[in-house]
Amino acid sequence: MSNRIRLDVNPMMAEYVGPRGIAREDLDNMMPALKKAHAAVEAGRGVDMQGWMDLPYNQDDILSEIEATAAQVRDQFEAFVVLGIGGSALGPAAVQQALNHLHYNELPAEKRGAPRLYIEDNIDPERMAALLDVIDLKKTCFNVITKSGGTAETMSQYLIISTALQKACGDDWKRHIIITTSQNKGFLIKIAKREGFKTFYIPDGVGGRFSELCPVGLIAAAVCNIDIRALVAGAREMDERCKSDDAMQNPALLDAGLMVLAMQKGANMSVMMPYADSLKLMADWYAQLWAESLGKNLTLDGQPCNAGQTPIKTLGVTDQHSQLQLYTEGPFDKVITFLQVENFRATTPIPHGCDDIPTIAFLGGKSHNQLIEAERQGTEYALFKAQRMAQIITLPEVNANTIGQLLYFFELCTAYAGALLNINTFNQPGVEESKLAAYAVMGYDSDVHTAKREEMKNRPARKAEYIL
Ligand code: PA5
Repeated sequence: MSNRIRLDVNPMMAEYVGPRGIAREDLDNMMPALKKAHAAVEAGRGVDMQGWMDLPYNQDDILSEIEATAAQVRDQFEAFVVLGIGGSALGPAAVQQALNHLHYNELPAEKRGAPRLYIEDNIDPERMAALLDVIDLKKTCFNVITKSGGTAETMSQYLIISTALQKACGDDWKRHIIITTSQNKGFLIKIAKREGFKTFYIPDGVGGRFSELCPVGLIAAAVCNIDIRALVAGAREMDERCKSDDAMQNPALLDAGLMVLAMQKGANMSVMMPYADSLKLMADWYAQLWAESLGKNLTLDGQPCNAGQTPIKTLGVTDQHSQLQLYTEGPFDKVITFLQVENFRATTPIPHGCDDIPTIAFLGGKSHNQLIEAERQGTEYALFKAQRMAQIITLPEVNANTIGQLLYFFELCTAYAGALLNINTFNQPGVEESKLAAYAVMGYDSDVHTAKREEMKNRPARKAEYIL
């Protein structure tokens, strides 16, 4: 059986789904732009913020070092905690959910064969308190991940945890911390050197949301016995499949082209709908990648634009009972991407029963494997009848190789889409204002933050009549 993931875009096309879909002529007319986008992305390979394109090829030594560290962590600790946010957390969480047991942390230690994993990507005070209730600091290793080395959420977690570790473990506390950060920038590397923490580096050209296949994602995965070499090999295979500048031979390029054409037709939402619990968090990871990369208000030539497509995270079949009504009958503003799994890693037969109730009895003798796929096909058909654009990405199985392919497929697709939209795919200026304002509210003492505090005071007064 081939392990290749497949992309079926028939339901994107007018030929299949009707006039609401994309005309073949529009795709054909886009071919020169697609070739240009491919060339632009290739020209940037390994340069500036496209270091992520080298990751499938340049990590042999680092993979060995990660595996050796992971083996030590497995020997010494009962829990492994990732402290990070955004790209430092979404990838590790998605890969862990995809490739390990769905109730991994609840498995007995002998079955897990590795520490419990917690990914702490928020600063909700109740969450930190809850974490400290369920871990034993003396038996826990923390991986502090931040590329900038200064993210308030992550560094505040570091301050809390390093203080708690010193109390709980005394002189031994430094053994409980692994740092993943930039080698040459930010404060965390300085702290890491001063304290002598075990440290891994995030290459300069790898931004947070493109970082799953570097130490950011690979350490937690290796600790939890995921085959990180197969993950990286899957990415390499996808990269090789996407060498052509002919979109009909390059799945990520074709997909980027169709998504941009869909945006031009008013489909400003991208619904990611995995039909597998193991892929649920893949939709979260994709949401950050697509939103933060493409949501921009300036073109590369400095012209105003408001580019982007809003990602929506869903789960099949669960959200058939929640959002499907909107997708079939609401506005024509969405593309639905199904993530289909051909072979699940478990089979759940449905026993016979309720023989007197035919609508239930007919399920007996079949399986949940059949039912989930039947429901996916049913949803696909309902969307087809409602003339909604959709596409299907099929994973023959969820394994480290196919997940590596999938991650890299979306990364490349995002890079091509950004090139087509003529925007900077790899920055995120729109999140800076919120950070600045939050520091100002926290009372940070600098000229910029003091000025921001003043500026914030000048907002219009809130009217009492609007507060009920
Ligand atoms: O994609 C990105 O660059 C961001 O979402 C970052 O991952 C996020 O802001 C966290 O940044 P850092 O790794 O510097 O803590």
